[in-house]
Amino acid sequence: MIRGFLFDLDGVLVDTAKFHFLAWQRMAGELGIAFGHDENEQLKGVSRRASLEKILAWGGQTLPEAEMEHWMTTKNAWYLEHTASMTSADVLPGASEFLRNAHQAGYLIALGSASKNALPILEKVGLLNFFDATVDGNDVTASKPDPSVFLEGARKLNLQPHECVVVEDAAAGIEAALRAGMLALGLGAPEALPQAHRVLPDLQGQDPRSLVADLETRAAAAHSAADRAKTPSTNLPS
Ligand code: BG6
Ligand code: MG
Repeated sequence: MIRGFLFDLDGVLVDTAKFHFLAWQRMAGELGIAFGHDENEQLKGVSRRASLEKILAWGGQTLPEAEMEHWMTTKNAWYLEHTASMTSADVLPGASEFLRNAHQAGYLIALGSASKNALPILEKVGLLNFFDATVDGNDVTASKPDPSVFLEGARKLNLQPHECVVVEDAAAGIEAALRAGMLALGLGAPEALPQAHRVLPDLQGQDPRSLVADLETRAAAAHSAADRAKTPSTNLPS
């Protein structure tokens, strides 16, 4: 039975994915590395250091540790310039209502974000009070698709992985949820998140209890289909 939700932050609750994009694009430009939306899609959910390593690899570059530190600090300063003026107006459509309804329906709620900036941003946009537990980039070092951020979130909520739904906008995050043994709700374009149990454009108009029932039905159907695929058919024509 599902008893809790684990929410990613960037691109799920707040519209910050565009700010990460702008800051990485500016850095890549200064390093002479091409960086567009396709590259950015691969960085969603990925930690700051792992993102820098990927961008450098795409440009065929390596940098000494001191310069890596310089670019991580500079990228973050640019990112924080963008987020400085965020307010509750930057919460993504339906997210506040969903958190409120999920809380009222008795679900436990945790954050599972790779970002080291997660808590000040949640506070700034007025969502922090909905959370029973938070896990962010300061708590775990392994980047999604490693499942540790969600496993730690479930542990803090005192729930088993199979009692949790993860809400994610990143392919790496959906993979992390599945590796953790949780149900995975994707937000965004279905073709970008093919592994999710279900993909929605956003949380607008979604009732938490109905959504959970639908996800459980889909997961059970996927499970039976996988079992059938494993069992050799006895009805094959001879
Ligand atoms: C994730 C974002 O939530 O956090 C990534 O999707 C970002 O784009 C990562 O790189 C780390 O964020 P921060 O704020 O610690 O640099
Ligand atoms: Mg995200």
